[in-house]
Amino acid sequence: PSPASRLERVLRQDAFSDADIVYLLGLDDPADCEALRRASFDLTSRVIGDAVHYRGLLEFSNVCRLNCRYCGIRKDNRGLPRYVLSKRQVVESALWAAENNYGSVCLQSGERRDEKFIRFVEACIREIRRESVSETLPHGLGLTLSLGEQDAATYRRWREAAGEHDGVRYLMRIETSNPELFARLHPARDRKRMEKSWRSRLRALDDIRAAGMQVGTGGMIGLPGQTLADLCDDIRFYARRDVDMLGMGPYITSLGADMVEDGMMDKGPLMQLSLNMLAVTRLVLRDVNLAASTALQTLFEDGRERGVAYGANIVMPNISPRDVRKNYQLYDNKPCVDEERADCRGCLEGRIAAVGRRVGWNEWGCSPHYARRT
Ligand code: 5AD
Ligand code: FES
Repeated sequence: PSPASRLERVLRQDAFSDADIVYLLGLDDPADCEALRRASFDLTSRVIGDAVHYRGLLEFSNVCRLNCRYCGIRKDNRGLPRYVLSKRQVVESALWAAENNYGSVCLQSGERRDEKFIRFVEACIREIRRESVSETLPHGLGLTLSLGEQDAATYRRWREAAGEHDGVRYLMRIETSNPELFARLHPARDRKRMEKSWRSRLRALDDIRAAGMQVGTGGMIGLPGQTLADLCDDIRFYARRDVDMLGMGPYITSLGADMVEDGMMDKGPLMQLSLNMLAVTRLVLRDVNLAASTALQTLFEDGRERGVAYGANIVMPNISPRDVRKNYQLYDNKPCVDEERADCRGCLEGRIAAVGRRVGWNEWGCSPHYARRT
């Protein structure tokens, strides 16, 4: 059969073999990619609808106990000034998001596990939930936490701090479902001393679910040494773990990290691979929330809206105060470091409209998958 007919046949299915998935991930002919995009976009319209939801991303601290080799804010990056926003700054940033009709925010920081940190986050969650209640947000802002691996008891405390209402999520990427590749990305001394192994991540994902939060994971795309079969395994992993939401994005080198000499993919092919990964994940997992990562925008200015066109339904506009943005660069050339949060709000709205979606203002935007499994 000709390649075109194979593609048509595969896209008409609703179950996919590993060979199908690897084939779709590897598409690079523009017409083929467009057919994949169309299939994913249309499925998203049917299963999710036409709304894209904002999660205002608040990077409240770059203090981190770990040394992930790919990451620009790793502990051993000594040149980086470290900051922690005050509770008031955190709450005010979140309230800015609420007033600007963002239905939810995401609190993200480097990983810390000390009691002071746990209590700080607890207090922020409680105040954000309480102070963001309004006519438009009757139960306050939806909250996503992206704060690394914690004890089961910590997840429970944070979940309880959010009160009786739903709309609490935790995002913790597995980074890669391949344990060997995972090991290469994290220095051995961390794995030993801090139990930072692939297995402890799995346990953390279980603990998050048990704490009653919506579960998010994801990974990086185009890591040195990663194959299409690895990415196919990532999709199988997400399906097996029955997750509610996914954040996936291209791997981009960071001068502050420890992997520069390993290089990265050329940005054109990396962009297409990342978009294919979004589309295929949508086709296989169907009803999950899928974020168009900010890293897409680092590769190409229109990266995030292209992600939306390939089936993403979540974007995470930065709401961090401008003066700290430059110190939270997980990878080089992070976008919007010189913008104010109000700039991003309007900029993104236009970009989303340009690909035929609308912003779901004032909504939590929980994934249909979560609604279905609970
Ligand atoms: N390139 C792309 N994504 C990165 N992340 C960390 N460092 C990089 C990088 N160099 C991602 C990780 C992490 C998320 C917060 O940011 O996947 O989970
Ligand atoms: Fe920040 Fe466009 S999203 S300026």
